[in-house]
Amino acid sequence: MGSFDGVWFVRVLVGILVMSSSLAGTPLAPSRPGLQALKVGERGRLVCRASEFGARGDGKEYDTRAIQASIDYCAEQGGGVVHISPGVYLTGTVFLKSNITLWVDEGATILGSTRQEDFPAQWTRWYTILAEDAENVELTGGGIVAGQGLKFVEEFKAEKNVMVSWNETGDCVGDECRPRLVGFVNCKNVHIWNVFLEEPAYWCLHIVNSDTVSVHDVSIHGDFNSPNTDGIDIVSSNNTVIKDCHIDTGDDAICPKTMLGPLYNLTVTNCWIRTKSCAVKVGSQTNYNLENLHFEQLTIVDSHRGLGIQLRDRGNINNVTYANIQMSTCYYHPSWWGLAEPIYVTACPRTPDTVIGSINNIHYINITTTSENGIFLSGLEESFLKGLHFSNVNVTLERWTNFTGGYHDYRPGCQGLVVHRMSGLFMEYVDDVWMHKVILRWKGSNGMSDWGLPFDITPSTVHDMHLLDYENTYVS
Ligand SMILES: *[C@@H]1O[C@H](CO)[C@@H](O)[C@H](O)[C@H]1NC(C)=O
Ligand SMILES: *[C@@H]1O[C@H](CO)[C@@H](O)[C@H](O)[C@H]1NC(C)=O
Ligand SMILES: *[C@@H]1O[C@H](CO)[C@@H](O)[C@H](O)[C@H]1NC(C)=O
Ligand SMILES: *[C@@H]1O[C@H](CO)[C@@H](O)[C@H](O)[C@H]1NC(C)=O
Ligand SMILES: *[C@@H]1O[C@H](CO)[C@@H](O)[C@H](O)[C@H]1NC(C)=O
Ligand SMILES: *[C@@H]1O[C@H](CO)[C@@H](O)[C@H](O)[C@H]1NC(C)=O
Ligand SMILES: *[C@@H]1O[C@H](CO)[C@@H](O)[C@H](O)[C@H]1NC(C)=O
Ligand SMILES: *[C@@H]1O[C@H](CO)[C@@H](O)[C@H](O)[C@H]1NC(C)=O
Repeated sequence: MGSFDGVWFVRVLVGILVMSSSLAGTPLAPSRPGLQALKVGERGRLVCRASEFGARGDGKEYDTRAIQASIDYCAEQGGGVVHISPGVYLTGTVFLKSNITLWVDEGATILGSTRQEDFPAQWTRWYTILAEDAENVELTGGGIVAGQGLKFVEEFKAEKNVMVSWNETGDCVGDECRPRLVGFVNCKNVHIWNVFLEEPAYWCLHIVNSDTVSVHDVSIHGDFNSPNTDGIDIVSSNNTVIKDCHIDTGDDAICPKTMLGPLYNLTVTNCWIRTKSCAVKVGSQTNYNLENLHFEQLTIVDSHRGLGIQLRDRGNINNVTYANIQMSTCYYHPSWWGLAEPIYVTACPRTPDTVIGSINNIHYINITTTSENGIFLSGLEESFLKGLHFSNVNVTLERWTNFTGGYHDYRPGCQGLVVHRMSGLFMEYVDDVWMHKVILRWKGSNGMSDWGLPFDITPSTVHDMHLLDYENTYVS
């Protein structure tokens, strides 16, 4: 877990001390499950142990009912800590409630079912752990929540796995038909910390229409070759803080978007990311505004795209800052969106009928990247990208994979993949662009002939461009 191991350890230790003192003296051999589980902890919180409600943790028999019973009981009493002790707990969807801390102990794994019948009827509620309309909910304890994603692979392929689809009902189609791992929908005051989220079958952590959500010291690990294994999707939620996380997965790692309402105030700090898709992706669902997004102190490794914005709908994206970021981006199979661009901004309508929103005030500060492709900024005649500020941005262009490039990637939709020469900085339909201390260093071309074009600017679509300190240089 990198540099925050120590802090985490202390937190876990404190957590364990609090838990064990509150659990001490719990009566054994419950004849009436539920009542025996009662114990008021030192922090004044009730502790309900799933084991006392019949959870076995043998990884074979389903513990869904027992875990749910312990949550329901705890919630009926006004809330408390639901304790999952070491073991493997196979479950269908488990519903969290208000004022509940789900404490998955170190050594405990909540293992998501791979059978559709263990999930609710509506596909939108397919999660292993789901909190709906809840407040003051917490997921922590140092343990694991795992989705058995590899069991959803129909065909393993190095470029991209083919996944199972639960589309029998016709509610969802193809790739979108698998359960997510953990979801918070219409929630308030959510705290997710000190937990490992592993092998999601589809999106991993989903925060929807919620307010005041804190995610920290969370490790997410998804299969690198499985599509839609997103890390954290933040949908139409306000005041989300994500920090000290480690995300290594196949699809987009951190992905704010809007489908249900606007999204305000998202801060992401000190995260390590590797993905076969986009590390930080704003969009592409952008039906409402996204404002005040701040990404700082990120390390992005060997990802297919670094900092991406995909505006495809009617919302506006305004005031986004990326600061103090180090990355490397490279090519993977073109069936994955992305062409190794460290920075990528596109506005284009999802369908010919879409009225497109706008992108304004985007800041890139103190960024250093080694990338196989250049920066790509593409607006539209009816939606110029406006107010793009680059300050202290160093791009080393280097080829180390065998892909020959030569494409522009407008996906999803729009012009799709377009054959086009590679460049250090591509711009079309942009207005008010500032480049202050921007350095492009061209390093190894790996035999690529089409190499070294510093700018590719579509004439007459670039307005008000300021190159205050821009350097283009060849290095050996
Ligand atoms: C949760 O706890 C708070 C504070 O103790 C209380 O006001 C609220 O009613 C509780 N909510 C539920 C649904 O029990
Ligand atoms: C379900 O998805 C699979 C794979 O994407 C597809 O071949 C099949 O036609 C779909 N079935 C239904 C009922 O949509
Ligand atoms: C987020 O804030 C906006 C603006 O105040 C509000 O319209 C929206 O309902 C809020 N969303 C949530 C999930 O609280
Ligand atoms: C966004 O954050 C600012 C500053 O903390 C706060 O004043 C504002 O109410 C927040 N917006 C929403 C929609 O919660
Ligand atoms: C832009 O967003 C940041 C948070 O990321 C906030 O502190 C700042 O006030 C916002 N600026 C404007 C003009 O709203
Ligand atoms: C970019 O390179 C210059 C010159 O080597 C260096 O002074 C600066 O600190 C670098 N900036 C970043 C963000 O790495
Ligand atoms: C960018 O780096 C400079 C020099 O290290 C530092 O003074 C400045 O605070 C950084 N900017 C941001 C927004 O962190
Ligand atoms: C590039 O191709 C060569 C020759 O086929 C192969 O040896 C090498 O491993 C490939 N490199 C990468 C990064 O795929």
